[in-house]
Amino acid sequence: MGVITESIIGRAVKKGILDISCVQIREFTADKHRRVDAPPYGGGVGMVMQADPIYKCYQHVCEEFSQKPHTIYMTPKGKTLTQQRCKELSKLDGFFIICGHYEGIDERLIKKIQPEEISIGNYVLTGGELPALVLVDAVGRLCDGVLSSEECYTGESHWNGLLEYPQYTRPEVWEGLRVPEVLLSGHHKNIEQWRKENQLTASSCGLSDPGC
Ligand code: ADE
Repeated sequence: MGVITESIIGRAVKKGILDISCVQIREFTADKHRRVDAPPYGGGVGMVMQADPIYKCYQHVCEEFSQKPHTIYMTPKGKTLTQQRCKELSKLDGFFIICGHYEGIDERLIKKIQPEEISIGNYVLTGGELPALVLVDAVGRLCDGVLSSEECYTGESHWNGLLEYPQYTRPEVWEGLRVPEVLLSGHHKNIEQWRKENQLTASSCGLSDPGC
């Protein structure tokens, strides 16, 4: 869970700028072994997460926040996350993320809550926890006050459909490779020009959705 306790996001949590909490779905099952999954009706491999513990957990969160939070379900079937959607989510007061596991979630829960379904890419992970952390990191850093200045992200990859220019730091020569001369020149106009020329458009890199 380093994502929410360390570095930029961790500092924002400690300062009270972000409030991130995890809820254990097992707390909401009536099963004496705290099970929250069962075999799928109709047969097949794997287990399916039951609707009721997740729904009770959702109701608990609604009570805690005294309103229905925007709810997101992390699933490979969802719409692929973009920087644009991260910006929009960063403007909300908060949101509740459901992490799927096993072979998925009982479809009736999806019908009942109608969460926004988000995928972090066209591959399948064993559960929604890592995708949820990706979402929290990508959205959290865009929330007001988390980064020191807006500049920190307005120039960076994906903000305007452009990918960030290459960066270099000390030493000037590493393993025989020199930092481009222009960056050492102190000539701000030329540096700006060089950086512009070295920002690629997302589509030229084969990314169909530049995220903006
Ligand atoms: N759960 C499993 N794989 C996922 C993915 N690619 N995106 C979001 N949630 C997932």
